[in-house]
Amino acid sequence: MYARIRSLGIKGIGGYEVELEVSISSGLPRLDMVGLPDAAVKEAADRVRAAIKHNGWDFPVSRITVNLAPADTKKAGTVYDLPVLLGILAATGQCKAPRPEDMFFGELSLTGQLRPVSGALPMALAAEAAGARRLFVPRDNAAEAAFAQGLQVYPVENVRQLTAFLAGEREMEPAAPGVIDPDSAPVPDFAEVKGQENVKRALEVAAAGGHNVLMVGPPGAGKSMLAKRLPGILPDMDREEALRTTAIWSVAGLTTAENPVVVRRPFRAPNQTASRQALAGGADLRPGEMSLAHNGVLFLDELPEFHRDVIDLLRQPLEEGEVTVSRASGTVTYPSRFMLVCAMNPCRCGWYGHPSGRCRCTERSVREYQGKISGPLLDRIDIMVEVPALEYEELEARPGGESSAAIKERVDAARAAQRERFAGTAVLENARMGPAEMEAFCGLDPEGSALMKGAYEALGLTARSYDRILRVARTIADLDGAERIQAMHLAEAIQYRTFQLK
Ligand SMILES: Nc1ncnc2c1ncn2[C@@H]1O[C@H](COP(=O)(O)OP(=O)(O)O)[C@@H](O)[C@H]1O
Ligand SMILES: [Mg+2]
Ligand SMILES: [Zn+2]
Repeated sequence: MYARIRSLGIKGIGGYEVELEVSISSGLPRLDMVGLPDAAVKEAADRVRAAIKHNGWDFPVSRITVNLAPADTKKAGTVYDLPVLLGILAATGQCKAPRPEDMFFGELSLTGQLRPVSGALPMALAAEAAGARRLFVPRDNAAEAAFAQGLQVYPVENVRQLTAFLAGEREMEPAAPGVIDPDSAPVPDFAEVKGQENVKRALEVAAAGGHNVLMVGPPGAGKSMLAKRLPGILPDMDREEALRTTAIWSVAGLTTAENPVVVRRPFRAPNQTASRQALAGGADLRPGEMSLAHNGVLFLDELPEFHRDVIDLLRQPLEEGEVTVSRASGTVTYPSRFMLVCAMNPCRCGWYGHPSGRCRCTERSVREYQGKISGPLLDRIDIMVEVPALEYEELEARPGGESSAAIKERVDAARAAQRERFAGTAVLENARMGPAEMEAFCGLDPEGSALMKGAYEALGLTARSYDRILRVARTIADLDGAERIQAMHLAEAIQYRTFQLK
């Protein structure tokens, strides 16, 4: 007796087809799983046996072999519970065999209820690519899986309901196709931030060109408050971006039935005590914070409190837009392209430079504190901005700043100019211009050249910071709707590099 059931697996953040063959033969009763199953997959046997008995079917008293193909990839998790159960029922003639274009995944409870699994979206996309027409998934995974197009996703509550449907004895409604609506995930608004007009402007420029930012200022000045509002002024993700980020979240187990898809650019703020694994990923080969921030913002608050090797981990994603994780169980590469936003106090006590003279740190301790941020990291920051403590009058005033929606309109316009300019190239935003694009789009007029020369000499700039200034100036010109970078655009960009740490 034999049955074949089509299912899916996850590698990295991608899904792939897995075919189960179930063979039942005479011999001592036992169930063997072959094809590199992990411990959770092997435990399927116990859940399946219990669910079969609980629902009044017969569990064959024979030798059962389940082969998971392709046999050379590791199969993980509990997604094969449902296919194994169906395979046994179909092989023993206790349920109607599924159609060749049906696929299944899902974890079972001992009573045969379906439980959600992680990775629903990438598996559904793989099902679509493999030509499946119907995909049967746990009910709580259905909303997420339904973002795959070209196949019908059926939400399954329990195995009885499914076998009755396969036998044509009852109806089942496929899930409605998913809709990506950024407004379904509200974010805090810039209108609530009092004062700090310079910082808001700097963040607008950063959002418009995808530039990395460092904010420096005393405790309570509003650094965290400002950073959290960035997703509200960043351009909406297109469908491709939203699904890619969702796939990462899904594999990490962060999507839910209520929030099945990441509709807004993510904002991730890992804790200073976060381990290398938490940032880069790796536990069970799950993606870390740097990948969860893909297409969005990675916020490192209190930057000097992060461990040095954690900061070194940022280098690969900042340069390559992805992160490679190696563990005994294998190597995986996850997408990891984010806007880096950092915040820090100017000194250990936080008040260095404050007019009240409250800071009691020695010059040496200030230098040590700031020295914790490595030069290579600072080299990747395009915009440094001071966030001063609010004056009492500002604090007392009612908030009445510009709304995020108004700022976002300008950001969107600047992004549209960039899209047009970079059409047909791999570059998406000014921050990622290479030498060829800079040569083509960042030419300076004589006034700009003179200004740049002066700044280069007076500020002791490096070639790298020279390039960063030009990219930021390009963004400022885009916000201004200008074809060419003008001296005033350049002057503002230079100002974002002249904020000197000690
Ligand atoms: N510019 C501001 N406008 C309105 N409220 C502010 C402002 N700055 C700080 N606050 C208030 O102070 C709190 C602490 O600010 P926070 O952003 O955590 O400061 P920081 O990160 O610089 O230490 C905020 O949650 C907010 O209530
Ligand atoms: Mg803070
Ligand atoms: Zn101090």
